[in-house]
Amino acid sequence: MASVPENIRRVEATDVSDLAEAMAELGVTVAGISGLPANRLIAAAVVSRPEVNGLVCECRGEIAGFLVCISNWKQFWLKFLARHPVFLFKVVANRLFKANLKRRSPAPSTEGASQDGGNKIYWEDSSLAISKTLYVGVRETYRGLGLGKLLYQRMFEELHKQGISRLDARIAGDNEGSQKLHASVGFKVVKRGRDAIFLSRSIED
Ligand SMILES: CC(C)(COP(=O)(O)OP(=O)(O)OC[C@H]1O[C@@H](n2cnc3c(N)ncnc32)[C@H](O)[C@@H]1OP(=O)(O)O)[C@@H](O)C(=O)NCCC(=O)NCCS
Repeated sequence: MASVPENIRRVEATDVSDLAEAMAELGVTVAGISGLPANRLIAAAVVSRPEVNGLVCECRGEIAGFLVCISNWKQFWLKFLARHPVFLFKVVANRLFKANLKRRSPAPSTEGASQDGGNKIYWEDSSLAISKTLYVGVRETYRGLGLGKLLYQRMFEELHKQGISRLDARIAGDNEGSQKLHASVGFKVVKRGRDAIFLSRSIED
């Protein structure tokens, strides 16, 4: 489907800075924090941490899209936050600020939300055999060419080789493009939360 020459490959050390810029451009948040410094930290983790799988799709010499998945999710974040205390401070401050805002604003409608109040039971599953999509993104110029799909297809192969049996994804409820992409590569909706949709795909088939 892609009509531009594309090369899908694992993220290399020389990609860190370009990947961070592409992530920041697409508004990737890292533990709720946006911006280039946060994205630099996660881009560096892609090449240094074995539990992080990162793929880039290169077109015309630039990163056209990327896909980052994290296995053993809880352990990863614990180690990541312990390694970056300044970032941890920002995450805590951000969460306190948001909790404060929530207390001040009226309670949102729970209509349509799942019974477990936010899918915690499913989303919190974490092990070496379970990976979670941190983000899939394709730069605007390259959207609709099948690159998101190609990135996922290659990621399934990578995860399969590593013995990972399941890939989970969490998508904003109003992100129609992302919902279509995930459905087109075989993700099934597991639960619908207040603002997010939780999906999962077996890597074994
Ligand atoms: C979501 C995103 C990654 C899709 O990437 P993409 O390369 O354009 O997707 P593809 O071209 O591979 O499309 C895959 C399928 O999804 C459909 N699709 C993709 N974007 C769509 C959109 N905006 N509206 C409707 N369908 C869409 C395609 O038609 C295709 O369906 P098909 O298999 O039936 O032909 C891209 O739009 C993006 O980066 N968006 C902004 C960042 C974002 O929201 N990321 C997801 C965070 S969870």
